[in-house]
Amino acid sequence: MSVLFSAYRIGTLTLENRFIRSATHEYMASEDGFVTDQMLHFYQRLARGRIGLIIPGFAYIHPRGKSSPRQAAIYDDRFIPGYEQLVDVIHREGGKVALQIVHGGRQCEPEQCGGMPLAPSAVEDPAVGLVPQALTEQEILEIKEPFVRAAERVRRAGFDAVQLHCAHGYLLSEFISPHTNRRTDKWGGSTENRTRLIVEIVREIRHVLGRDYPVLIKLNSEDGLKRGGLTPRESVKVARLIAEAGIDAIEVSGGIREAGAVAARLNVLSPEKEAYFRKAAAKIKATTGLPVVLVGGIRSRSVMESLISGGTADFISMSRPFIREPDLVVKMQDQNKQVADCISCNGCFDPNGIRCALITDQETKV
Ligand SMILES: Cc1cc2nc3c(=O)[nH]c(=O)nc-3n(C[C@H](O)[C@H](O)[C@H](O)COP(=O)(O)O)c2cc1C
Ligand code: SF4
Repeated sequence: MSVLFSAYRIGTLTLENRFIRSATHEYMASEDGFVTDQMLHFYQRLARGRIGLIIPGFAYIHPRGKSSPRQAAIYDDRFIPGYEQLVDVIHREGGKVALQIVHGGRQCEPEQCGGMPLAPSAVEDPAVGLVPQALTEQEILEIKEPFVRAAERVRRAGFDAVQLHCAHGYLLSEFISPHTNRRTDKWGGSTENRTRLIVEIVREIRHVLGRDYPVLIKLNSEDGLKRGGLTPRESVKVARLIAEAGIDAIEVSGGIREAGAVAARLNVLSPEKEAYFRKAAAKIKATTGLPVVLVGGIRSRSVMESLISGGTADFISMSRPFIREPDLVVKMQDQNKQVADCISCNGCFDPNGIRCALITDQETKV
């Protein structure tokens, strides 16, 4: 049997295979952040695809951290019943599900977050020409609580795990980046200082949820900037600090908005172009000893198997291939399919609900 279909653990959680659906904003929540029937339908289909762990798109932990239209919210107890339904739909199909929680920080659209975007420092984002508002020390302290309360709600709603979004240029990834974090107090400067907020949030989540509840992190291994951003070398140090704070697994990604298509690279059409964060993943795995989830342009079975057998990663995480083929794992397992059909064109970002632009009859509506 291929290693891809062997069970493996993340903390107390056993996944039946090595496939993870990386968090993907579906643009399917209601405008005020509630789970909709469209979302339930979408995830039911995905859950029938035998993916070891499904991670829905980023749920915002505070109204000032909402970055995108039709994004799901988790800042209040009133959102829990919708998530209970979502968890139920996935569990009934035999799937497992974790929720990714986020504060959008500097990458929020002002009309979504109700004011100037918040960030560690007032560094202009050339992608949109906006200078965010730098958080005061008091505001940094106050941001920890909504993350912890959101993680508690994730558990109460019945999710199998929670994932902290510390990648792609959103607030927590802005703190670890020397480009977006220019602070001179204890939250900026050294790697330890820039990682402090994440470390404190992880410790507080652990304190509240206990040792046994699986807590994952999606972490940037680089910002993808030519100069001045987080580098793969520094990300290994960051990962070690976060691992010591008590995380169960690290999903390795990269990129911030202003660097362009770094996280979801275009035209990944040959095995050599696949798994573009693999070097950092191998170092993070060797340094932390934690299960590593690798995401970013993984498309073919031979690459997947060599990543796991060669000790680069423990889990294969994908986003776009599962938009095009929600049943990709079933096809790989039952029909020996070798390569995902996705051509990495990024035509799937659709404000009415993600869908593969190359498939005309794809169901995304109820
Ligand atoms: C439509 C779309 C929405 C995404 N939303 C999220 C998100 O909410 N959270 C996140 O961590 N990454 C998000 N991503 C990035 C993916 O999870 C993944 O890291 C990236 O697409 C690379 O993996 P892939 O090559 O398998 O698509 C999104 C990607 C796409 C295409
Ligand atoms: S539009 Fe379809 S083929 Fe293009 S990246 Fe998205 S899922 Fe893949």
